[in-house]
Amino acid sequence: MTAPVLEVHLSDSNAADALHHDVRVGLSADPKWLPPRWFYDARGSELFEEITALPEYYPTRTERELLRRSVRQIAARAAVDTLVELGSGSSEKTRLLLDAFAATGSLQRYVPLDVSESALRGAMAAVAREYPALAVHGVVGDFTEHLELLPASQGGRRMVAFLGGTIGNLLPVERAGFFAALRAALDPGELMLLGAGLVTDPAVMVPAYDDAAGVTAEFNRNVLRVLNRELGSDFDVDAFDHVAAWNAPQGRIEMRLRARHAMTVRLPAVNMTVHYAEGEQMRTEVSTKFQRTELEAELAEAGFADQTCWTDCNDRFALVLAEAA
Ligand code: SAH
Ligand code: TRP
Repeated sequence: MTAPVLEVHLSDSNAADALHHDVRVGLSADPKWLPPRWFYDARGSELFEEITALPEYYPTRTERELLRRSVRQIAARAAVDTLVELGSGSSEKTRLLLDAFAATGSLQRYVPLDVSESALRGAMAAVAREYPALAVHGVVGDFTEHLELLPASQGGRRMVAFLGGTIGNLLPVERAGFFAALRAALDPGELMLLGAGLVTDPAVMVPAYDDAAGVTAEFNRNVLRVLNRELGSDFDVDAFDHVAAWNAPQGRIEMRLRARHAMTVRLPAVNMTVHYAEGEQMRTEVSTKFQRTELEAELAEAGFADQTCWTDCNDRFALVLAEAA
């Protein structure tokens, strides 16, 4: 077994600059908002893992089922030597892909990329232990910035997996930029495997982001704890309520934090003082749900061809395999 390699593209000072920038922009906007990558410190990554096991959170188990059904076909389509995974988190579902590719004998290397160094380290250690023949090369990085830094194939082809519906957490312009950057980072014939949530009944979608046990609420509020720790700010975390709302015209679930009462928050590291009115809502995350045909059209537009799509019987989630044209 070769020792896992960890490549870090987000130094602490880079991350601090990015956080300062995002907070300056987002908290001076009207309405206020924050980008979602700041949820995922060690605690946030743990809370997300808890979310994936909640009865209301159907995306993880639906996607796992789709992977189970499709992995043999996916592995048969292309002998890839490298599996890259963006926003890999715990790499839990990835094992289905690793098993299928291991069975074809082509896979040499797994490259998980995540902003959460703690989640990445944990996942890498477990995968390296369970797949001793596989080289594990982790990248601490941002998938909206660091795609051109992904390691090249080892003479064959790569497949880039982007699972969990995380594509839906990007805003439309970010998503277009992401698909273009990913296509540019791939050679013709290399593969992308994308897991995306589909528009379904709001009575199913909304509880997935507002569970009865309150885990998602804790996850949402965790971003304020991250700000307090990293910026020395004084958010009263318990004075914000979790809100999950279906925005039908935009086709997305929006997670927000609603101020219970009027507040003034100081953020010394960015030299800001921010006011919240009673009931004011700050957006912390969008989770876009797609129409299958629109998603396929977007991918084709970005230069991904030969698409194969698997969906569950309720049409709640799609797994799309496509090839860089
Ligand atoms: N793929 C896993 C985890 C999905 S949660 C699954 O399907 O269950 C989203 C993951 O993306 C988290 O691990 C989070 O740390 C990571 N992430 C969020 N924003 C990111 C960014 N901009 N760049 C890289 N990783 C990011
Ligand atoms: N990629 C996940 C999703 O959109 C992320 C997520 C799940 C999430 N639940 C959340 C983000 C709650 C913020 C709050 O399904």
